[in-house]
Amino acid sequence: MARDHYYNKAKQEGYRSRAAYKLKQLDRLEDVIDRGDTVVDLGAAPGGWLEVAAEEVGPEGQVIGVDFQRIDDFEDHDNVETLRGDMTEDKTRKRVVDAADGTVDAVISDMAPNMSGEYSLDQARSLHLARQAFETALELLEADGDFVVKVFEGPDVDDFRADVEEEFQYVRATSPDASRDESSEVYFIGKGRLTAPVRPGDELEVEITDVGSEGDGIASLEGYRLFVSGADEGETVAVRVEDVKPTFGFAQRLDRA
Ligand SMILES: C[S@@+](CC[C@H](N)C(=O)[O-])C[C@H]1O[C@@H](n2cnc3c(N)ncnc32)[C@H](O)[C@@H]1O
Repeated sequence: MARDHYYNKAKQEGYRSRAAYKLKQLDRLEDVIDRGDTVVDLGAAPGGWLEVAAEEVGPEGQVIGVDFQRIDDFEDHDNVETLRGDMTEDKTRKRVVDAADGTVDAVISDMAPNMSGEYSLDQARSLHLARQAFETALELLEADGDFVVKVFEGPDVDDFRADVEEEFQYVRATSPDASRDESSEVYFIGKGRLTAPVRPGDELEVEITDVGSEGDGIASLEGYRLFVSGADEGETVAVRVEDVKPTFGFAQRLDRA
């Protein structure tokens, strides 16, 4: 294996893997990990991402790493917990959910299959792992949480991206510098998990139960606040949803559109 720039840098700076720099670059790009966060790292061995995540969340944060390979204990970080298991099995997913009792702010997955050398097979397996990571992220993330996932480029990756886009405020695709040049891996960063019961374009009838500080009417949908301009408290109006943020959204009255 070529001992490249990031391999040498990892050795010098004491990270367990060159992959550490990919997470640093992804985090710099979209600010996925903040101080005090709880982060779940899937496919975490040998632990470069865990080290970077542990530094980023600080002592008041928590990092949970999962891999079916053994992850050596961390002497420098006592905010990292590791689990050994296969993420394609329900029982591992359940253990991860149990370990993260509380809000999870980010789910990050660098899972990759064992390479068979046959690209189409490896690519299909990579996509399968990415989908498992996505399911886990949907189960764990609260509103506004972030998701990072690696996948090998190929068929059905556009469909996968579209599915992630449905569940997050936006998705950015990137290939960090620290990925090897020849590699065809891409990372999707899903920012701002949407748990809203509506999506842009939805048309529905809502009851205005409050008025915001700017004078917009507010409807509450299962606790999610939808702002409707030009609607008064007590009115029931037909609206079209225009914009959905993680914790609130905007809608237009249909009778005045
Ligand atoms: C590229 S490595 C991760 C490197 C890691 N991010 C780091 O910084 O050290 C990919 C990892 O995914 C793990 N993996 C692949 N399939 C998995 C599965 N089904 N469940 C759990 N881990 C898996 C592999 O064992 C491998 O350790």
